[in-house]
Amino acid sequence: MVWRVIPMSSNFFNMSIISYFGSKSSNAFQNFINPTIPKQGVTKYLEPFSGSFATYMDGDLQFDEVYYNDKNRHQVNLVYCCSKPVEFLEHLEKFKDTVLFTNKKRPSAKWNFYKGLYKKYTKNTFLDDVNFEIGDFSKACMYAFLITSSFSSVYPRGGGFSGYSKDRDRLKLEILIDKLKKGKYTDKLSSITEFTNEDFEELIRKHDSDETYIYLDPPYYKYDEKTGGDDAKRLFWYGSDSESVFGPVSHRRLLELIKTVKGRWSLSYYYFPLLEELLPRDKYIWLQKEVNRTCANGGNNHEAKSKEQAKGIELLILNYDPKTGKKLISNDGMNCLGVSHLFHWNEAQAA
Ligand SMILES: C[S@@+](CC[C@H](N)C(=O)[O-])C[C@H]1O[C@@H](n2cnc3c(N)ncnc32)[C@H](O)[C@@H]1O
Repeated sequence: MVWRVIPMSSNFFNMSIISYFGSKSSNAFQNFINPTIPKQGVTKYLEPFSGSFATYMDGDLQFDEVYYNDKNRHQVNLVYCCSKPVEFLEHLEKFKDTVLFTNKKRPSAKWNFYKGLYKKYTKNTFLDDVNFEIGDFSKACMYAFLITSSFSSVYPRGGGFSGYSKDRDRLKLEILIDKLKKGKYTDKLSSITEFTNEDFEELIRKHDSDETYIYLDPPYYKYDEKTGGDDAKRLFWYGSDSESVFGPVSHRRLLELIKTVKGRWSLSYYYFPLLEELLPRDKYIWLQKEVNRTCANGGNNHEAKSKEQAKGIELLILNYDPKTGKKLISNDGMNCLGVSHLFHWNEAQAA
């Protein structure tokens, strides 16, 4: 069955602690992904591609150990600093009174001031300099301004400035500040065992066990039906499409790796043929749902122009039965669930 969801409420982008391109915070995603996450027999929860960590943050999930990880060091640092709201709020107030201070009164003049600052810090070396300790509040303040100002919350260099509302005379950074003040996510954030800035492979190999559950939400493959190629704008969405981070070959690297792990996992993606080749429907469960998503097309004009809604079929591929939580393929390679049962599942999904 394909579910049709039109979730675009006005606060769609304001959920989780911080808006992030590709976030799984909306109700549509929460209802699709979270109920399938097994609770029995799971002690370690891992999101190798955490971003805003929405699946964990907005869901009703509790585990002994919870691991946040992302290759974007600024994002890791920001989420970590959000887990210390009292200290972070002090830094943010100082940041507003100094770096963000302007004596301009007219909203259009303020817009120009903030936009100028955004341009300066997306063009200079700020984003490239990742030689800092996680827990650097001053870096977190500037990155928070940039990511909350970036169109569609893409990597700040990929999106034009949209961080200030002239009508409300308000910076979008204030949304984050409000959330920190209200403390809605404080308990969730402080339940995180460790924040790391590693490649997904390193993290998965380190924590894989029979009691590990891994939710995988990598930068998507955008399948071009004409060329068969990967048309994704990862450089604009997440700041890098180099192979050392997540380039075209990394899809295969990820898929080959998760076929070998002991733990249970679920994987979000859009369809591309390699998925079916490496994770065939007679071995894995494929769930799908039609969703409205915002597409922020990459561009180097640094102006907020190309935002559009597109319908996409979101896939969620699992190596366990979501009803029982039982792994489908045992560690010695045996199919634990009958092939006919799997076909039944996957046919029902596709119908
Ligand atoms: C689709 S987003 C994840 C969104 C997240 N589920 C959320 O709710 O916000 C993919 C993330 O993968 C990160 N990433 C890219 N390459 C990576 C790698 N090799 N290892 C770990 N994280 C990586 C990006 O920085 C980005 O934050």
